[in-house]
Amino acid sequence: MTQPRVALTGIKPTGIPHIGNYLGAIRPALALAQSYEARFFIADYHALNSIHDPQRLSDLTYEVAATWIACGLDPARMLLYRQSDVPETFELASFLMAFTAKGHMNRAHAYKDAIAKNEAAGRDADAGINMGLYTYPVLMAADILLFDTDVVPVGRDQKQHVEICADIAQTINHAYGAELLVVPAPVTAAATDIVPGLDGRKMSKSYDNTIPLFATEPQLKKLIGRVVTDSRTVEEPKDPDTCNVFNLYRLFAAPERQEELATRYRAGGMGYGQAKAALFEEMNAGIAPLRERYQALIDDRAALDRHLTEGAERARGIAVATMHRLRQAAGIGALAKSG
Ligand code: TRP
Repeated sequence: MTQPRVALTGIKPTGIPHIGNYLGAIRPALALAQSYEARFFIADYHALNSIHDPQRLSDLTYEVAATWIACGLDPARMLLYRQSDVPETFELASFLMAFTAKGHMNRAHAYKDAIAKNEAAGRDADAGINMGLYTYPVLMAADILLFDTDVVPVGRDQKQHVEICADIAQTINHAYGAELLVVPAPVTAAATDIVPGLDGRKMSKSYDNTIPLFATEPQLKKLIGRVVTDSRTVEEPKDPDTCNVFNLYRLFAAPERQEELATRYRAGGMGYGQAKAALFEEMNAGIAPLRERYQALIDDRAALDRHLTEGAERARGIAVATMHRLRQAAGIGALAKSG
């Protein structure tokens, strides 16, 4: 029997996700868990680069754990842990430093964007950039390589980081003449990559056009009311394919329901208000169970602690073994007992 392949992804604790995050990242990552051995961790050391408020970082950590479990992450069957609970991550990051080309860090998008922003604002190029941000891809590579990861589900913005990781792994494998490390590949979700926001642009916090995943029913109704439509009258036939309401509907409704609504669009006689009511029904039906599970989870921090502690124990079992393998290969393993 061959070993199941491993899918691993890190989640930066940055707050309650929106529908776009859910459809574009959370749901596809959890779907991979059907065919892979799935490992998920909360990347709190990555967040430390930018969040220096202890209460906030700890709250965000619980929120991320509750969110993913509410969306279907089963901590008993899959693995969920906090990065900070696996100290081997940081040992491996130091190890990887010795095999990482500095030029890779200079070329990493997240770092380059920060430099470009500074330059555009007339500031010193390195203003506000700490070594955590500069060496971010190395820590990320440690997260991935420590767990013998075959595939890494990520958004397009993170693809380059995974490629840098694969490059570092190959350098190490080459140095020690062995298949010491599993070389990972990024996987990016296809169809749901672009979820339209309220204004029709890609749903994104930076456009302020999002629908929060756990919006209450009244909030959801209000936000759907704000989805931008054209000015066709009720009587006029409408085009579902170019309509933001329909494009959101499509992401939640079953194919037959989509066909039904598309037919009503084309026939005319239906106003956008009715389309929005149909969207609310489908969206709310899809989200309500997640919202309820999330509330129950976030109200029971002791239970979340138990999940994370158990996850950390299992994760360390894997991490210690990988680190042992690497140390032995590199000549920094246990010293031989003499005579
Ligand atoms: N950099 C990722 C992000 O910003 C989070 C992350 C950290 C990650 N370590 C990882 C993702 C390892 C995949 C694998 O979203």
